[in-house]
Amino acid sequence: MRQPVIAGNWKMYKTVSEAVQFALDFKPHVVNSHHCEIVLAPTFTSLKTLNDRLEGSNIKTAGQNVCDRAGEGAFTGEVSAKMLKDVGCSYVIIGHSERRQYFGETDESVNRKIKVSLAAGLTPIVCVGENLAEREAGLMEKTVGSQVKQGFSSLTEDDLLRILIAYEPVWAIGTGRTATPEIAASMHHFIRSSLAEGWGKSVSQKVRILYGGSVKPENIVSLMSEEEIDGALVGGASLEPESFARIVNYNRV
Ligand code: PGA
Repeated sequence: MRQPVIAGNWKMYKTVSEAVQFALDFKPHVVNSHHCEIVLAPTFTSLKTLNDRLEGSNIKTAGQNVCDRAGEGAFTGEVSAKMLKDVGCSYVIIGHSERRQYFGETDESVNRKIKVSLAAGLTPIVCVGENLAEREAGLMEKTVGSQVKQGFSSLTEDDLLRILIAYEPVWAIGTGRTATPEIAASMHHFIRSSLAEGWGKSVSQKVRILYGGSVKPENIVSLMSEEEIDGALVGGASLEPESFARIVNYNRV
């Protein structure tokens, strides 16, 4: 049984006071929601304050990015895995398509970031997904297969079991165009088969694969009814407490 995970990615939204207000409004809605892990990924600047406010609750936090270098050093503007852990983070999003598209993230840097994050005791949420041109050309399995192969290169079975994967088709992110549950499930199945090839069937059955891309209160139930879908990485609809709470509490409708 794979425990579901519902994670909110706030991207470059919310000041510290807005993040705190969200926490105050959101917590009562999910105080009894133990069916899934609940994760919020605010900007770096809000992490410490938000974690202080969430202490003792069932809500954990994630960094939205991490430096690919181990340890510390002269790397202006970067934040290390140890620093994320130090402010109370449990997870870190790695290889989001916006980072790949605008900030030069590659499968090689994704691979290094996974390794430093695991070494620091963080749970990586590793994003993969094809863009529209690749989907229209029928190349989605080729793209995602290579992101998995290269991004997870030289990871052990134990490493894999500590990772979450988020399948996020780029054409569905922020566009209102969600992948149908069937499309998402078939890509999750493909990712699982790729994992089975590299690390064996038993490992592949245990890795949790989240879907991301225009997840909303209106479509979460049908997405989560797919056996292959183990949770969601939510952007826009995680910015508002009631909307994100409805997504977290998809099991109550
Ligand atoms: P969206 O973003 O839910 O706004 O489409 C998802 C993501 O980028 O993780």
